[in-house]
Amino acid sequence: VNSNAGDAGAEFIVVANRLPVDLERLPDGTERWKHSPGGLVSALEPFLRSHSGAWVGWPGVADAVAEEFEDEGLRLYPVTLSADEVRDYYEGFSNATLWPLYHDVVAPPVFDRAWWESYVRVNRRFADACAKIAAEGATIWVQDYQLQLVPAMLREQRPDLRIGFFLHIPFPPTELFMQLPWRTEIVRGLLGADLIGFHRPGGAQNFLWLARRLVGLEPSRGAVGVRTRPGVVQVGDRTVRVGAFPISIDSAGLDAMARSKEVQQRAKEIRSELGNPRKVLLGVDRLDYTKGIDLRLRALHELLEDGRVNPDDVVMVQLATPSRERVEHYRQMRGDIEQVVSRINGEFARVGHPVVHYLHQSVDRKELVAFMSAADVMVVTPVRDGMNLVCKEYVACRYDLGGALVLSEFAGAAAELTSSFLVNPHDLDGVKNALHAALTVDPAEGRRRMRALRRQVLTHDVDRWARSFLEALGTQHLN
Ligand code: ADP
Ligand code: F6P
Repeated sequence: VNSNAGDAGAEFIVVANRLPVDLERLPDGTERWKHSPGGLVSALEPFLRSHSGAWVGWPGVADAVAEEFEDEGLRLYPVTLSADEVRDYYEGFSNATLWPLYHDVVAPPVFDRAWWESYVRVNRRFADACAKIAAEGATIWVQDYQLQLVPAMLREQRPDLRIGFFLHIPFPPTELFMQLPWRTEIVRGLLGADLIGFHRPGGAQNFLWLARRLVGLEPSRGAVGVRTRPGVVQVGDRTVRVGAFPISIDSAGLDAMARSKEVQQRAKEIRSELGNPRKVLLGVDRLDYTKGIDLRLRALHELLEDGRVNPDDVVMVQLATPSRERVEHYRQMRGDIEQVVSRINGEFARVGHPVVHYLHQSVDRKELVAFMSAADVMVVTPVRDGMNLVCKEYVACRYDLGGALVLSEFAGAAAELTSSFLVNPHDLDGVKNALHAALTVDPAEGRRRMRALRRQVLTHDVDRWARSFLEALGTQHLN
């Protein structure tokens, strides 16, 4: 990808709510850049860095004004958000309206007109930033639910551009989407793109139905396939394609990191720091109410109560990255999780030997790979997740064919990772049985499952995802 043609402007631009790095303000007043949280950045960053792309996004703190800068081969263009916009556009409309609505209303979405107005204003700012730096005929790849109006706003100013949009979270059933007071505006916003991508064909199909129902268009009727057979809809003289492109990870990179002596050494050390238990369970998530962290802890609690898991044998580690901490549902969930953790430890720990090690922290990449290498069972139990990268990361780390994956049927990844221990996270007995089965799996059966999982994850990496999307978009700027 050729991102920057000097003064002529950038030829390939990713635009996302966040930059791949966040500005951190330290108590002594100094500032530094650190890696941003979330799956979008984990997935896109390695691809973009290896192709020298340009990235437009928010630096992660209110009122941060920063000039464009170069960061290890990436050209970064910061967009400023005021404190009110962080409250209304980011915490409000993006994360207390769209996020719960698109995740099957597992929490009630809030519909607030002032938040919507802020969303429109901020989307325009992102569109303006792209319009300003894009070269003639450039490719712009718009990311995720925070920026659904950008495609149409950008098209209006710059009809010369090739515009792709990808949604990183689930696209909801049409009945739920229809609750949104601004449903038609969102559909029209997305239709400004040349290609609209979802993780699963179902999302694409839902969108096509809405384009007919809300905008009166005549979409194609055939079933949408994975990476192939996109749906097609004619918008005036433009053809808009609507397809399914399941995202993935830098599988080879993680596999190589897991094989390194340093990581293997650290994995051993982690087990020893945990007291060399017979089995280690691991959870790794942003602390989000969609991730089912509470459910897996409740399942473990009952297994301990039932005597099916022995607290002298089994340790669970839960790493939870702080996320969206000022949004009410996130606060509540944090309280619930911390209560279950302390209840389990209160009842089943011994001094110096907690059963659950809970870190409300982000760990660096190598440390994460060491944790994944050390864990016998990776527990991924979202009640709804667009894809979920954590489960793919675990598989990529297990070159030794060790370990077992417990995975929710409600994660997009379940369609690909069919050799995992699949569970319905709403069925507590089912989760308990799956955890128990994964803890006691026969080693040969465990290896058979992991081999099948690795075949999928290593052959379907993030490079393949990005290439399949950009080829379908017909960009000229991919090398
Ligand atoms: P989401 O995009 O909703 O956060 P994903 O599973 O798709 O969920 O991506 C989460 C990304 O964040 C993964 O790359 C995962 O490794 C990383 N991550 C999550 N929790 C932590 C943590 N506590 N420390 C370090 N990385 C984390
Ligand atoms: O895809 C999910 C996603 O919401 C990304 O858009 C986002 O960057 C990431 O998770 C982390 O969330 P946030 O940017 O709100 O911290």
